Amino acid sequence: MISRRTALTGLLLGGVGLASAGILSSRDARRWIFGSPTFAAEPKPLAIPKSLTGEVRDGVRTYDLGLQKGISQFFNGVETPTLGINGAYLGPTLKMRAGELVRMNVTNRIGEPSTLHWHGFHLPASADGGPHQVIADGATWSPQFTVKQRASMFWYHSHMVPRTGPQVYQGLAGLIYVDDDETARLDLPSDYGVDDIPLVLQDRAFDSDGSLIYSTSMPSVMMGMRGNVLLVNGTVRPYFEARTSKLRLRILNGSNARFHTIGFADGRTFQHIGTDGGLLERPFETSRITLAPAERAQIVVDLDDGRPALLRTFAAANAGMRGGGGMMGGMMEGMMGDDLTFDVLDIRPGAQRPKSAPLPDRLVSLERPDPSRAVNTRRFVLQMGMGGMMMGGGSFAINGKTMDMNRIDEAVRVGTTEIWQIENASMMSHPFHIHNVQFRVLDRNGAPPAPGETGLKDTVVVAPSERVRLLLNFADYSDPDSPYMYHCHILEHEDAGMMGQFVVTA
Ligand code: C2O
Ligand code: CU
Ligand code: CU
Repeated sequence: MISRRTALTGLLLGGVGLASAGILSSRDARRWIFGSPTFAAEPKPLAIPKSLTGEVRDGVRTYDLGLQKGISQFFNGVETPTLGINGAYLGPTLKMRAGELVRMNVTNRIGEPSTLHWHGFHLPASADGGPHQVIADGATWSPQFTVKQRASMFWYHSHMVPRTGPQVYQGLAGLIYVDDDETARLDLPSDYGVDDIPLVLQDRAFDSDGSLIYSTSMPSVMMGMRGNVLLVNGTVRPYFEARTSKLRLRILNGSNARFHTIGFADGRTFQHIGTDGGLLERPFETSRITLAPAERAQIVVDLDDGRPALLRTFAAANAGMRGGGGMMGGMMEGMMGDDLTFDVLDIRPGAQRPKSAPLPDRLVSLERPDPSRAVNTRRFVLQMGMGGMMMGGGSFAINGKTMDMNRIDEAVRVGTTEIWQIENASMMSHPFHIHNVQFRVLDRNGAPPAPGETGLKDTVVVAPSERVRLLLNFADYSDPDSPYMYHCHILEHEDAGMMGQFVVTA
């Protein structure tokens, strides 16, 4: 199926031309890309990833993780070859506490080299699991580090240049729950799988034989790989029976490329309580949240009225293509199914719902971001060579450079605070991610961030012609030889070179 996709590359480029000439409808063009009809799926209970607390050996909390091949049944009776960690698809939720020393024993058995990156973690670069910590097939990699995070939901995933896109797409990802004293004191729903529910959102395309379609056609690289089926923790059409009056949902946009705007079908509001790297200072009431790939949100929804609550996605105004899309952008969006919306989770309140504690109105305290502490401002300009698209070209770059594993792009001093100014010179939105730090958003085009972006972040959306300023602190861990990455988290853009490397020096 992948070879058929590849063979279609030329045709697709032709298809773009035909669609723009009005000969081929965008619906037909879309079918060329997705290929197959969707299989029928009955509603199923939401899968909750197993939690893994590891084992304390010699004072170190140790997790044994095996990257493996598997067969998944996303649709009844349909077998899909996938990848997973300690299972057929995705991995266990690793539970750990701030301050602990942890060790990961990661064994690779997928038949090709891979890596495992701890997304959102502040740690030594050699333990980061980025593209320099390759684990050969059959080998084991055992990094050790202290958990220096605030309580939040993080995640781990393959970072194998240039195979991150296909490896994550097939299932090499999982969640990490970090807990700490400040958060444990708050009376938040925290019974894993009962009233504290992780939701990993991933859109996928399936071929008629049940296998996943991973297209490397030019439009799929430009727009990022998207699909017409939404998996939630690997479940198609999930429902969840709630046994409490409040539910805390921890949502990861684990898609390769698609932005998801999330809300409830009945328009009910909910409390937004946390961002990528921690809780917000106060809950913030809203009815919609947009998450780009790799972004996370924690929300609390009230089920007191006993009515079913359908969490779904909504067509965002130009999600992934905000502003400046132009004719080509609009056409690509239509072709690639960017207007698709999905049901995420059908929440069915059970008859008995013990009253949950009221949500505290103050959650944690965060330092006020102070740009005057910055010793330096660095500019990062995100570029896509869209001009070359029709010819089959197109380049992905930051500051005019495509990723080179042998080039260090930036060196920062340990113990300093910097401003990173991210500018988008392309016509698509990009989720910009920085390893090793949880940063704060200072402003967007000079305006203060929206309430949902006032917390700790490791990934931030930068829309076309936007300029976003971030405040970063490089608290510790210097190593002149091991770089950290910064990159677009649309995995196809990352694999195509929209990534750079920085070191932290003494
Ligand atoms: Cu989520 Cu560089 O990674
Ligand atoms: Cu990361
Ligand atoms: Cu991008």
